[in-house]
Amino acid sequence: MKEDLIVCSGPDELATRATAFIVGVLAGAVRSRGRATIALSGGSTPKPVYSRLALPQSRGLVDWSKTLVFFSDERFVPLDDPSSNFGLAKQALLEGVPIPSSQVFAVPTMLDSADAAAKAYEATLKDVFGYSRVEDPPHFDLIVLGLGQDGHTASLFPGFQSLSVTNRWVVASPPGSLPPPVDRVTFTFPLLNAAKNVLFLVSGREKAHVLHRVRERGPGPESLPASKVHPTPGTLTWIVDKAAASG
Ligand code: 6PG
Repeated sequence: MKEDLIVCSGPDELATRATAFIVGVLAGAVRSRGRATIALSGGSTPKPVYSRLALPQSRGLVDWSKTLVFFSDERFVPLDDPSSNFGLAKQALLEGVPIPSSQVFAVPTMLDSADAAAKAYEATLKDVFGYSRVEDPPHFDLIVLGLGQDGHTASLFPGFQSLSVTNRWVVASPPGSLPPPVDRVTFTFPLLNAAKNVLFLVSGREKAHVLHRVRERGPGPESLPASKVHPTPGTLTWIVDKAAASG
C-alpha cells in the first residue's frame, strides 16, 4: 500500500488539492477502464470539495457520463432529510454536473430498516460491479472518507460490531457518536480495503490528536476504526490542513 500525506495551509487549499486529486483519479479511471467508480463520504469537510468539483473549471475535466457515484455511508433518514449524505452531495455536487441519475446510487433509506437498506445496497454493488463472491469485494477507483474525533470513519464507530465484519460489504449500524442519533448504513473494512484509492479529508485542530494516533496506527485498533483502513492493493492519501496536522 502506498500512503501519502498532503498538508495544506488551510481548508481552502485542502479543497483545491482534494478536487485536483479526485479529478485525477476519475479521469484516469475513465481513460484506462472506460468508467470511474467513486464512493462519497458525508460530513462537513468534503462539502467544499464537492462544491469545487461542480465548478466549470473542474466539472469539465471529469467524464460524468462514465462516472458512477455511491456513498461510503449514509444516515437512515429520507433522502431529502437535511442530515442525508446523499442530500448533501446532491446539493453540493450532483445537481451541478451532467451525471445521469441512473449512475448515482443512493442508499435505499426508504426501505423498512437499515439492515434491509444495507442488504439492498450490497446487492446493487454486486449487480453494478458484476461481482458475486463476498470474499472478493469490488475495487472502487476512489473512496472518499472523513475522520471523526473518536477515530470513526464512514459509520464504523469504535467498539461496534461492524468493525469485525468480514463477510459483508455493507452493513447496518446503530447510531454512533455522531449526531443525528439515527441508524446508519456503512461500507465495511473488506470493501474499503479493496479500493484502488482511498482519500481521507481531515481539517481542523480538533482532529489533530486523533489524526496523529490513527496515522501512527497505535495500539488498540478496535478503538480507532480509521486505523484499520489500509487498501493493500491500492493507495491511501491523506489531504489535511495544517491545523489537523499539528498533532
Ligand atoms: C458522516 C460521515 C462521517 C464523517 C466524519 C467526519 O456520515 O457524517 O461519513 O464519517 O466523515 O464524522 O465528519 P466531518 O468531516 O464533518 O468532521
